[in-house]
Amino acid sequence: FGINSVVSLSDLERLAEAVVPRHAWAYYSTGADTEAALGENANAFKRVYFRPRTMRDVSNTDTSTTVLGVKSSIPVYISPTARNGMGHPEVGVRSVTALTSQGEAAVARGAGEAGILQVLSHFASKSLDEVKAAAKDGQQVGYQLYLQPDREQSAEAVREAVKNGAHSIWLTVDTTIVGGALCIIRKSEAHLMQLGKRETERRILAQELSPAPHGQPLNRAPLDYGMSEPKMTWDDIAWIRSLAPGLPVVIKGIGAWEDVVLAYQKGADAVVLSNHGGRQLDFAQPPLKTLYDVHQHAPDTLHQPNFSVFLDGGIRHGTDVLKALCLGAKAVGLGRPAIHAVSAYGSEGVEKMIMILQEEIDIGMKLLGVTSVDQLGPEYLDTSKL
Ligand code: FNR
Repeated sequence: FGINSVVSLSDLERLAEAVVPRHAWAYYSTGADTEAALGENANAFKRVYFRPRTMRDVSNTDTSTTVLGVKSSIPVYISPTARNGMGHPEVGVRSVTALTSQGEAAVARGAGEAGILQVLSHFASKSLDEVKAAAKDGQQVGYQLYLQPDREQSAEAVREAVKNGAHSIWLTVDTTIVGGALCIIRKSEAHLMQLGKRETERRILAQELSPAPHGQPLNRAPLDYGMSEPKMTWDDIAWIRSLAPGLPVVIKGIGAWEDVVLAYQKGADAVVLSNHGGRQLDFAQPPLKTLYDVHQHAPDTLHQPNFSVFLDGGIRHGTDVLKALCLGAKAVGLGRPAIHAVSAYGSEGVEKMIMILQEEIDIGMKLLGVTSVDQLGPEYLDTSKL
């Protein structure tokens, strides 16, 4: 399947599913418990309609914007996702050097070529150093942090990120405990039975499925590899800021409009409305609905010069991007689509994914009757079915 035959983000998903190892697919594709939140993230976009305007000169459209001060070819960035290297079929076969160009490093090259911001996960397969080395001169990379119960460990992680040139710190706050992981366990278990001779996969899965300690329904330990800190509070924003002076601090994983107001009051530079791609609290409302609530109850937070509202979860089309921007988001993040793209075609796949979205956004803008992204507003939407 050549890259030229890829015309949509769902093509990339199909190809990725066909090539990545099964344990990686179980990890990438699943959501929490019943996967209702996962499904609703994308479905919510299907319940919002456009009210296009016409007979306007739309011969010259500009899809670009700035994201936290970084020039961006489209109002989209790469959300942080752990273990991007896991999807490469060669992992465990080829030498480590052969892999240095893959995973998040390949994402960096694709994002750099196409001109959008990448946010690197705390649990990336590559270090920020390696990613910066693969990136273009001057290309910005954000760093995502999971707060650790051992605060000194977190402080060290932030200082290290600052030293290695992180553009911004993205603190993920929807993981006070690891969410319902039944789905990945079931998918992995079913797969374990069919594995046959694939020893590496068998070993990884056997580890993940090791029996739960007495009295616990599930063995969560292997899934909780340090992403949760139940003692986190709003005061931690000031603490993170003190460790990374001058860098934007973004709070990722907001699920209710009231917390957008709090994040703004507590001095965050931006928030990401997100339910972690449906992987944490099942039935957490779709981020598009959270954005609608912000628009209804706290519209001022959407129009502050030094505060941005972003959204991720379920974005698969240019029209999804446009709908979020109409409701006041400054930009949106892509999680799984970037994993699919890099797993199927490396950096070229990531670049292709961004080009597809750019074209879809450009066409959508022309048909809506706008020529720049700042002209998008709620008057272009019918949200009565949301
Ligand atoms: C994630 N996500 C995530 N978020 C985060 O802050 N740190 C992380 O390490 C990870 N890891 C991770 C792994 C995988 C495999 C997925 C699918 C997701 C959540 C991610 O940043 C984002 O919120 C969602 O992926 C957005 O939803 P879509 O675009 O995947 O639908």
